[in-house]
Amino acid sequence: MRAVFKMKWGASMVGWRDEYSVGIPLIDEQHKNMFKMCNELIEILKNEKEVSFESIVGIIVELKKYTKYHFEQEELLMAKYQYSDIEEHKREHTKFVAELDNIKFGDIETEQLRVVKELVNHTTSWIIKHILSSDFKYSELISKSLDGGKMLDR
Ligand SMILES: [Fe+2]
Repeated sequence: MRAVFKMKWGASMVGWRDEYSVGIPLIDEQHKNMFKMCNELIEILKNEKEVSFESIVGIIVELKKYTKYHFEQEELLMAKYQYSDIEEHKREHTKFVAELDNIKFGDIETEQLRVVKELVNHTTSWIIKHILSSDFKYSELISKSLDGGKMLDR
């Protein structure tokens, strides 16, 4: 086993609020899952239990994978409903994915608390900001469409 985390962190959980809803159940569900993963990281850091490097990295890898999956789904939805600002929205996604891909796991091993704290803070504030500004822009078109964004289910 590699480095072991033993730390205390006073960060509070990221709570889901109804005002974050884009009115498309499928997308809301995915956003909630992303919150859940960030909360798992916060929970691990808050507990004074010893945490292995591998378990922290495991959650971060999952978060990265899930974020990419979620962005793909959103982009598919925007394309199907012919959302006009899709290209700009995709650029925001691409930029954030690049940021996640740039996380250096070596840094997590040497500067544990700082790196993971920064990642959680950055990710949660990015998601909330992105939902409230960019996702809200496509939400009206899709949620008010005849099938309310269910096109991906079929
Ligand atoms: Fe988005």
